[in-house]
Amino acid sequence: MLSKRLRAIFELVLQDSVVYDVGSDHAFLACALVKEKKCPLAYAGDNKKGPLDNAQKNIRELKLEGKVIPHLYDGIDPKIKADVVVLAGMGFYTAEKILSAVDLSKYQMIIVQVNQDVVKLRSFISELGYKIVKERVVYDGFYYEIVVFDPRLKGSYTPKECYLGPLLMKEKSDLYLAYLSERKKALEAIFQKADLKSDPRLTYYKWIKETLEK
Ligand SMILES: C[S@@+](CC[C@H](N)C(=O)[O-])C[C@H]1O[C@@H](n2cnc3c(N)ncnc32)[C@H](O)[C@@H]1O
Repeated sequence: MLSKRLRAIFELVLQDSVVYDVGSDHAFLACALVKEKKCPLAYAGDNKKGPLDNAQKNIRELKLEGKVIPHLYDGIDPKIKADVVVLAGMGFYTAEKILSAVDLSKYQMIIVQVNQDVVKLRSFISELGYKIVKERVVYDGFYYEIVVFDPRLKGSYTPKECYLGPLLMKEKSDLYLAYLSERKKALEAIFQKADLKSDPRLTYYKWIKETLEK
């Protein structure tokens, strides 16, 4: 069974697309996508043999050989023909390195979920000039943010949008508002301990408050 985080990524994948899950580890996502007939074919990429052995085992157990393909490669192999690329469960700097190394314009959709530094991720997407087309918040023990961009479309985002999520801040789902309230409380706890006159977190606090109150 997929975790809530991976299920949220599953839901974002385009129906009938070929997916290349980079940093796939056990290939849980790739296997679910094919097993549940969301995708006819998926690649489970990883740069280490151990995770790929786990992937191979799952693929065999689920009888998905030939439909989920394990692939050993450091980053995105440009030779793999796919519509959608997924990078999930890794740090921002790893994702940044992987995404910077290839021409992304041939893909229809890139789905990224980094474990920390999602604000840096959005700034990076903005610097590359790509359009963020979907965003999700999911609570799975922690809050995770998933960012989807279309490298064929142009986009540019302000620091406030990078911080809050350009789509999340407009859509304002109940879960997102709960997440913001939690972040607001965490900042208030910091401000109680220290008198921060010119700390950037004061601006973040203002942005969160504005979004919650509007
Ligand atoms: C924590 S796991 C995440 C697994 C899965 N994507 C998820 O979200 O649950 C990260 C995986 O990324 C792989 N990885 C790290 N750097 C990579 C790179 N440069 N190229 C391909 N895979 C990489 C690791 O070997 C590991 O299996």
